[in-house]
Amino acid sequence: MAGLLGCRSSRQALNVQDDQKFCHAHVVKALDDLTLGDSVDYSVVPRNIAPGDSMWTLRPVTAEEWCSGFWPGVLWLDYEATGDETVKQQAAAYTLGLRSILDLPVYDHDLGFLMFCSCGNAYRLTGDPVYKDIILQTADSLATLFNPAVGTMLSWPRNVEMFGGHNTIMDNMINLETLFWAADNGGRPELRDIAVRHAETTMRYHFRPDGTCYHVAVYDPVKGDFLRGCTHQGYSDESTWARGQAWAVYGYTVVYRCTRDPRFLDFACKVTDAYLDRLPADAIPYWDFDDPAIPDAPRDASAACVVASALTELVGYVDKDHAERYSHSLTDMLTSLSTPAYRPADDCRSVLLHSTGHHPVGSEIDYSIIYADYYYMEALNRYSRLKNLANI
Ligand code: GLY
Repeated sequence: MAGLLGCRSSRQALNVQDDQKFCHAHVVKALDDLTLGDSVDYSVVPRNIAPGDSMWTLRPVTAEEWCSGFWPGVLWLDYEATGDETVKQQAAAYTLGLRSILDLPVYDHDLGFLMFCSCGNAYRLTGDPVYKDIILQTADSLATLFNPAVGTMLSWPRNVEMFGGHNTIMDNMINLETLFWAADNGGRPELRDIAVRHAETTMRYHFRPDGTCYHVAVYDPVKGDFLRGCTHQGYSDESTWARGQAWAVYGYTVVYRCTRDPRFLDFACKVTDAYLDRLPADAIPYWDFDDPAIPDAPRDASAACVVASALTELVGYVDKDHAERYSHSLTDMLTSLSTPAYRPADDCRSVLLHSTGHHPVGSEIDYSIIYADYYYMEALNRYSRLKNLANI
């Protein structure tokens, strides 16, 4: 997998409309697999495809299955790109299938991923108030995880004992968008304060001086003191897990959009530069930037997709020098992802290969994973709307 592609010479090869058509063909095939006779079982959703396989492995829709919202999100993004009404109907049905998750108290921070990647797109594209109500409820539910002594939301209530304190993972930055959105759309104004406080606390404690992040920050739940940074899904406590850094890039880009506070823009650039400085030639990261097995370590295409999507936005906020670097990097990432090195065969239901889920426990190494497809399709849709991308 090392040295797959010299992206800069291949930039002209990027054709986002063709890539969107490729995604649509695979989404339609997967939808067809999920339709038995006239009926679809909305209680299960695609999660992953093992190397060499072509069909999605399905998982039950539950609060414990953190990826439950990505398949509905993929359908909404495909509908956005194509206008296909059948895909829209299925997107709506899968999205409404998530509603019962809100009947129980929040299981963990992933509720934000689950509901915003599905209902956030659904509301953006349809304006149907049913989705708005779900997002508002989600935000209130997420806010119950906030600890004011610490200044962040607890990510994994079930793991407090294991980590020895209030744990906050970098992934949790993605959930702040739900809180900002709710505060701006009829929810409690305090939701915005919680989101800002979470972003500030994380900015203060969750990063090393070079802009790379810990996966997990542990805090004293009563005094609020930062106790330590460590990892759960990365190579080691002091390594940089690629998707964790990708969540930071996406998270601080969104926080800047929602606050327009220049501290967050500077920080988004700092964490983005730390990520870009560590990329190999084809712009797709190894699963952890510090795995000693590099260049024989697995890649994580999903991290590339998360960052590519964030860059479509960040590129519009920064000065000329940054804009040039970010637009080049973004195009390199999307170009690499559209090559045979990362693209599956036509009979495979996913749209990307080579993501890594949870390497330390041997789970989903070098797989197709649904969230890679989600962020890739989001990046393509956003890229197709970009105007005046810096001279590439
Ligand atoms: N939020 C879990 C992950 O990125 O794998």
